Amino acid sequence: MERVLYFPSLTSTNAYAKQHAQSLPDKTIIVADEQTAGRGRFDRKWVSAPGGLYFSVLMKPTDVTNLPNLTQLMALCICQTVRKLGAEAILKWPNDVLVDGKKISGILSEVILRENTFYALVIGVGINAEQENLSGVGQPAVSLRELGIRLEKQELLQDVLERFWPRCAAVLKEGFSAFGKEYKELFPYLGKTISVTNGGRKISGAVQDISPTGTLLLATTLGRREFSIGDINA
Ligand code: BTN
Repeated sequence: MERVLYFPSLTSTNAYAKQHAQSLPDKTIIVADEQTAGRGRFDRKWVSAPGGLYFSVLMKPTDVTNLPNLTQLMALCICQTVRKLGAEAILKWPNDVLVDGKKISGILSEVILRENTFYALVIGVGINAEQENLSGVGQPAVSLRELGIRLEKQELLQDVLERFWPRCAAVLKEGFSAFGKEYKELFPYLGKTISVTNGGRKISGAVQDISPTGTLLLATTLGRREFSIGDINA
């Protein structure tokens, strides 16, 4: 069903997927043991030393209405995998996975355009798997190894993808509602006062809900605000 390409080292699996998108089929997975220029959201660096699981999923769906929800589905699948392995993982909207307030996984999704129209989606995933020292990554982070969980990276990848593939079609068709209940059960911020950083601005408020399209609804002093991207600071 899927094609998996393994590399000992790449600058970035997302960059490889984007460079080769035309020649690679739908649902190609690109995996690297390390990345020399791994990237995170908002142009941040993603430290990608050997030991982490770094992969990108290249997808060429025909219906693009609910694309952002595919990334949220991936986050849910990773969260479920980590929980199955015994850690109390939670989701931090839109697509971070945390254990004990520390990041165990992040996702950078990028759209590829051809002649100004959608051509492909790249969902780039980093999971802290076997690293033993994450002190240099610039944010609180934890690996499966540090939690006492040992699992081959190959099996970790397989477990995540076995959850992800069977649900893609429904998510492309129905959007967030195809998995919203499960997502919200693992999202502990409902009702909490948080701030969201978005476009250089920080906006505080109480989390009202995640909308039927997967956006974050915040009750602020200026009324209700809806976010489709941003970073939660709890
Ligand atoms: C984030 O939380 O900021 C997103 C991190 C995404 C990292 C992954 S690792 C595989 C893929 N290649 C990259 O350069 N980035 C993503």
